[in-house]
Amino acid sequence: TPFRSYEFIETSQPRPGVGQVTLNRPKALNALCSPLIAELNQALADFDASPDVRAILLTGSQKAFAAGADIKEMAPLTFSEAYTTSFIESWSSLTTNVKKPIIAAVSGHALGGGCELALMCDVLYCTETANFGQPEIKLGTIPGAGGSQRLTRAIGKARAMELILTGKNFTGREAFEWGVAARTFATWDELLEGSLKTAETIASYSKVAVMAAKEVVNKSQDLPLRDGVEYERRVFHSLFGSNDQKVGMKAFAEKKKAEWTDN
Ligand code: CAA
Repeated sequence: TPFRSYEFIETSQPRPGVGQVTLNRPKALNALCSPLIAELNQALADFDASPDVRAILLTGSQKAFAAGADIKEMAPLTFSEAYTTSFIESWSSLTTNVKKPIIAAVSGHALGGGCELALMCDVLYCTETANFGQPEIKLGTIPGAGGSQRLTRAIGKARAMELILTGKNFTGREAFEWGVAARTFATWDELLEGSLKTAETIASYSKVAVMAAKEVVNKSQDLPLRDGVEYERRVFHSLFGSNDQKVGMKAFAEKKKAEWTDN
């Protein structure tokens, strides 16, 4: 994978098949200014297009995944500027354009837009002490990158309403107990290693099947159950047209390791 040079992020390929984006704006605790989001979208688009990448890891630093949208950038914004430029809409490209799975590895602050960015990822891992929250109410505003919707779906209305109305933070341990995070880790090193291991596991499977699996699970968030089940069945049927379905089932019958063709 060819790597571009960026100002606010770093990209790497730490393991075979795994592309990593590290948010790297330490002076502002990875506050998500517009140029950072543009770089993130570029890096994710590159990984999505790269045949060498099969799973993506998104992380920040030990101290901050991201401390939110850039408050200094937003402070002077007018309604018309926000409306006519569709401010923050490009953040969602992570959920609409990227077909490969993204694992968020969250340590430290994941506040406001940082929490929302983590919620957009497909698998969320964090440290027990990670600091999540939607503090926008304290700034005289509300979550703007899907927090009121994704957090509510993830943890239910009662808790989401309380958190969003009070601006109270919640810990990584709570994120795990409430089903936001799939796993928690005691240390930053363990978080990174655990996230990379999961990314490697995903990367070891057929790319076609992995992308289809991500697609159908995400559909469950948008569709009524009956439509979702039908959608899943259609995609399931379509995979009988893939070579890897034949490869995988033949390998099982022959007690061999599947050699995926990504077809
Ligand atoms: N935007 C811009 N700059 C930020 C920032 C943000 N969201 N968060 C932190 N920074 C900057 C600080 O201004 C500070 O810069 P200076 O050194 O130039 O003063 C630097 O990062 C370090 O921050 P602190 O000195 O505040 O660090 P701390 O360790 O004392 O506190 C913190 C850490 C509790 C995370 C605190 O920085 C904080 O409360 N940040 C804001 C969190 C927040 O409100 N996020 C929501 C933003 S709104 C939003 O995201 C809208 C949306 O839904 C999309």
